[in-house]
Amino acid sequence: METHEINKRFLAHFEGRGHTRVPSASLILDDPNLLFVNAGMVQFKPYFLGEVPPPYPRATSIQKCVRTGDIDEVGKTTRHNTFFQMAGNFSFGDYFKEGAIENAWELITKSQDDGGFGFDPERIWVTVYENDSEAAGLWQRVAGVPSERIQSRDGRDNYWDMGVPGPGGPCSEIYYDRGPQFGREGGPVVDEDRYLEIWNLVFMQDVRGEESPKYGHPPIGELPKKNIDTGMGVERVAYLLQGVENVYETDLVRPVIARAEEFSGRRYGADHTDDVRFRVIADHARSGVMLIGDGVTPGNDGRGYVLRRLLRRIVRSMRLLGVHEPVLPEFAGVVRDAMGPSYPELVADFDRISDVVKTEEEAFLSTLTSGSRIFDLAAEETKSAGGGILAGDKAFQLHDTYGFPIDLTLEMAAEQGLTVDEDGFRTLMEEQRQRAKADAAARKSGHGDLSVYREVLEQHGETQFLGYTDLQATARVIGLVADGVPVRSAGAGQKVEVMLDRTPFYAESGGQVADTGVLIGSGVELKVHDVQKVVQGLFVHRAEVVAGELGLDTELTGSVDAARRSMIERSHSATHLVHAAVRGAYGKRAAQAGSLNSPGRMRFDFTTAGPVSADVLTEVEEEVNDYLQTDVEVQSYVTTKDKALELGAVALFGEKYGNDVRVVDMGEYSRELCGGTHVERIGQLGLVKLVSDASIGSGVHRVEALVGTDALRYVRKEQLLVSQLAGSLKVPTEQLPSRIEDLLTRLRSAEKEIEQLKTRQVLGSAGELAAKAADLGGVSVVAEQLDGIDGNGLRALATEIRNRLGNRPGVVALFSPAGEKVSFVVATTSAARDKGFAAGKLVPSFAEAIGGRGGGKPDMAQGGGSNPAGVAKAIEALRAAVTGG
Ligand code: SER
Repeated sequence: METHEINKRFLAHFEGRGHTRVPSASLILDDPNLLFVNAGMVQFKPYFLGEVPPPYPRATSIQKCVRTGDIDEVGKTTRHNTFFQMAGNFSFGDYFKEGAIENAWELITKSQDDGGFGFDPERIWVTVYENDSEAAGLWQRVAGVPSERIQSRDGRDNYWDMGVPGPGGPCSEIYYDRGPQFGREGGPVVDEDRYLEIWNLVFMQDVRGEESPKYGHPPIGELPKKNIDTGMGVERVAYLLQGVENVYETDLVRPVIARAEEFSGRRYGADHTDDVRFRVIADHARSGVMLIGDGVTPGNDGRGYVLRRLLRRIVRSMRLLGVHEPVLPEFAGVVRDAMGPSYPELVADFDRISDVVKTEEEAFLSTLTSGSRIFDLAAEETKSAGGGILAGDKAFQLHDTYGFPIDLTLEMAAEQGLTVDEDGFRTLMEEQRQRAKADAAARKSGHGDLSVYREVLEQHGETQFLGYTDLQATARVIGLVADGVPVRSAGAGQKVEVMLDRTPFYAESGGQVADTGVLIGSGVELKVHDVQKVVQGLFVHRAEVVAGELGLDTELTGSVDAARRSMIERSHSATHLVHAAVRGAYGKRAAQAGSLNSPGRMRFDFTTAGPVSADVLTEVEEEVNDYLQTDVEVQSYVTTKDKALELGAVALFGEKYGNDVRVVDMGEYSRELCGGTHVERIGQLGLVKLVSDASIGSGVHRVEALVGTDALRYVRKEQLLVSQLAGSLKVPTEQLPSRIEDLLTRLRSAEKEIEQLKTRQVLGSAGELAAKAADLGGVSVVAEQLDGIDGNGLRALATEIRNRLGNRPGVVALFSPAGEKVSFVVATTSAARDKGFAAGKLVPSFAEAIGGRGGGKPDMAQGGGSNPAGVAKAIEALRAAVTGG
């Protein structure tokens, strides 16, 4: 069963039982205690705590989750993953233990034909929190689980809280017995590999304090009501239902590995070291893309740093697999194709996602290139001095200055017949870690060597920003940095960071993107593509020398791309107006949670308690456009912070302001603390068109709008699209919705009919195939390649052929290639099983030939592979296994 189908069934099951379907929250929901959302309940926390009345008594969701605590373990085993999906059902003071157990049991044991997951009830085990005889009793009474398969565990396993003060409660976990080949008898208390946890039911009733009841500390209070929070591990259920052995082999993850195999020409499953790399790539590509989808960008601290690490680990792993070319956009595409059906934002926003990974990869690859030069020099020196060991401080310098991972240094050294003084390297690393820790504690920033910039700042003082009034100005070069180190000059074609004593360029901040433009001096020209305040007060122009040579102290004239700046200003002013309108509609609780002002397009995130209705957004749009017609002048002035707040200026939560602040007014309608640049009169905006709104988490909403000519173009494009649709469907525009609905209904029933016909046709060939059975040492073997039959069809057909083999010992193995994949099914008759032929055990005999894996029970096993060309070989291998067995 495909993962998307598992999600669909889960939601449908709970929707059918009165739960409101709630979309996944953003991975970066604003909870100060969490780097990333790591459980389904996070977005519902205020309801559990009674801070906000729940808008519904029951809810269900599939939550995207990221846990990065074990990032270094990923890949070394198949158990660790940084991204996963948690399917959950939640009751806010509605049903409690009995409802939770009943609902979960029904879904997992109901047959697949009836919309369930079809797990064999005999293989289900459960655990309960010590002394929770109520839960144990319910498992027996409601689900019929015998007491031998109910185990009691203490708080460490069966108490759940968020790891921080907040809601918590005892829990009961559901496990699936994968069978004796996976470990020892005795239930989950004995072996959690064999008995795999698939679902955790938390009976959310306590308030935990600083210390967790997990370790015996009593809760500090009771929640206002008794609630339910459950979390089913979608990936785990997927690999059980797909007959594979771990998440890396499931439908949504395997494709990334497959692409990495294509790139590298190496094969997954052939070598443990390579497999670790394949798994790192597959895991990180998924987490990385999901994080970027939710707005994280690579950076040097916090979430951005985690993302940077994930992406760089992919590039590094590919290099170790022998691939030096850029790969990230390709992997991002594979992740989009796999995850898109459940997360359409990945498809809609793919251009941006792809840009982010592309830029990050380019930066890292160029780091690696400069590092390689240093490496070659060091290797040369070592050899000419007659040594065989690369010094620890060289390896450290490569790591520290060039971001060169140690395993890469090891690998490259080995290629040159050298070893590396790893102990020396580690000592230096440890020393640096200690320094960084002290530094991070002081600055709460954590990473990146900023000392070169700080030196410039100390020597020359802050950059003077002229860009509120001037788009052109002359300035002097006070610092140059290339590849993280100070340089005295930079020549044509070189990328360089330029620091100036004064500048008309706006550096990215407060959601306003940086200016671009040119820097021109006598005989030298640079293109500026980004400007950042790398350290407070110092503007760093990221530029490329297009002609001539640039040296320190040179005089340059900076010119900002004025047309682009105007578009950005229109967006930024529009953001203020949308903010004011949203606050008008929702009151002060509607706080700005983030914004992006880029040319012609703005994005504004805000928090509110309840859902945001389409009507309100229409009103917001209308109000903003009405107000544009007043064409008020935009005024900005500097005043004290207290005075500004007294005037009612809106300040952003969490922003740091000095005592003097800049205020931007648009009449009485909008007044905000803001350092950005704006239009002169609001009439310049022309038109503000909201183009999308979405909830990116409970309470966090995102509106995007186009401004000015871009807005007009958008409206025109939409209009054209609608009239084209109406033309091709031959109905007036207002009848489009009903016409499409009608077509979809017909399409669905036609698809169903085709499916039935196909099954009938497939089953019709069973007799013929059974008659072709070859006798191999007393076992009738039907092993065939059949094109174009899906997994369900194969299973049905194999069952039918097996029936026809009757009492004979018989093995049926069917393979069906489709595109770059091949699915297979193996079924055995009971007489064959008596002779020792178990379907699941036959799989390994041929799996390698088709580049796949699979498994299952003795009577039936199912799986897939990535090498359809190997089917003939697989059939041979299976026959040999039967003959040999
Ligand atoms: N919050 C619980 C967990 O994360 C159940 O959803 O396991």
